[in-house]
Amino acid sequence: MRSTWCVLATLVFVTAFGLVQDPSQAQVVQKGTVNTEGKTGAQLFADSCAACHGRDGKGKEASVLGFDVPTPDFTDCQFAPREPNADWVTVAHEGGPVRGFSNRMPSFGGALGEADLYRIIDHIKGFCSDPAWPRGELNLPKALHTEKAFPEDEWVMTTGFGKGPANVSTEFVYEKRFGPRNQIEVKLPFQSTRANGHWSGGAGDLTLGFKRAMAHSLEKGFIVSLAGEVILPTGDSAAGLSKDTTVFESFVSFGKLLPSDSFFQFQGGVELPTDTTKAGNEAFWRAAIGRTFTQNGPFGRAWSPMVEVLAARDLESGATTHWDLVPQVQVTLNTRQHIRFNIGWRTPLNDRRGRHSRVVMYFLWDWFDGGLRDGW
Ligand code: HEC
Repeated sequence: MRSTWCVLATLVFVTAFGLVQDPSQAQVVQKGTVNTEGKTGAQLFADSCAACHGRDGKGKEASVLGFDVPTPDFTDCQFAPREPNADWVTVAHEGGPVRGFSNRMPSFGGALGEADLYRIIDHIKGFCSDPAWPRGELNLPKALHTEKAFPEDEWVMTTGFGKGPANVSTEFVYEKRFGPRNQIEVKLPFQSTRANGHWSGGAGDLTLGFKRAMAHSLEKGFIVSLAGEVILPTGDSAAGLSKDTTVFESFVSFGKLLPSDSFFQFQGGVELPTDTTKAGNEAFWRAAIGRTFTQNGPFGRAWSPMVEVLAARDLESGATTHWDLVPQVQVTLNTRQHIRFNIGWRTPLNDRRGRHSRVVMYFLWDWFDGGLRDGW
């Protein structure tokens, strides 16, 4: 009996929306099935989306829909503001599978123009009316060294190798957002060195951090955050992997959207050890500029080439500022685009004594958007 109802409900949807399976797995809403003449985003949403997403944007029960793929809750401020409009237009245009979602989310690209879809998405974005939540457009592609201003839910594993005291260094970073603007962070580095034919190494100092977005505006295209970190002397001291003193770090991060999918990011701050006989006070600043390109039309894989400039200087008179240049490229690995890879080449620009070029790369998993195996 229940399955008969499911089949019937599906049939009603298929006929109501003119859904047909297309080769890319998406169900396509046919051209001419939606009248868009002079309609607002709210009206278009009511006509084309509310059957599954509900007029209030909260989504509908499986029993009403006749399938058990849960529909997202667009009123949830934790979720909706962080998704860039362009990503949602992509999903609505091409159907769920374009971002590794279910094909229950149909493709409207044939029936609705991009301008209609942007109007609808604007309406959907209004379901979370609290402006405290920074918009996902301000979540710029992460550079290898410059810390983002956007508060994130991420795992990042960064590895560097080359000549020099630490042949291979790997750092694990866990970031968790809470509330609209805050994020906590835990960082643990590891180093291994090859000497006399064998590898040795261990863990470095553990970092605990807190970051808060102080100001952000999608209209003006910027976000600014302040952060404080404590680096605890937990590392392997005997192997030279600890600073042997607690270090306080504080910095400002800034992100700016530029025309044609370009962006600029800046981070500047200081590191202040509690015992300055063990480690010196240091100032640092980093900047990244880049642009995002998409492969195979506007909805495909995103490539973001960037160049980073890094500067660090001991806070004592006569100290040299160390400059490094890091050309790099970030690429989305899966169709959901929440798993990304970045590879770059860090090269010292001055004072090359004991400072070597290194390959640096990371794997990034935005775990809020899905599991590691989701959305491929
Ligand atoms: C036939 C039912 C149905 C209709 C009609 C429908 N959707 Fe969906 N939509 C879904 C389902 C189911 C999902 C969840 C897919 C998943 O999680 O795998 C979804 C997901 C989405 C998402 C992805 C959100 C995320 O998780 O990032 C967006 C955006 C979206 N829909 C927008 C729209 C818009 C805009 C319309 C109208 C133009 C629309 N949908 C019409 C069923 C539908």
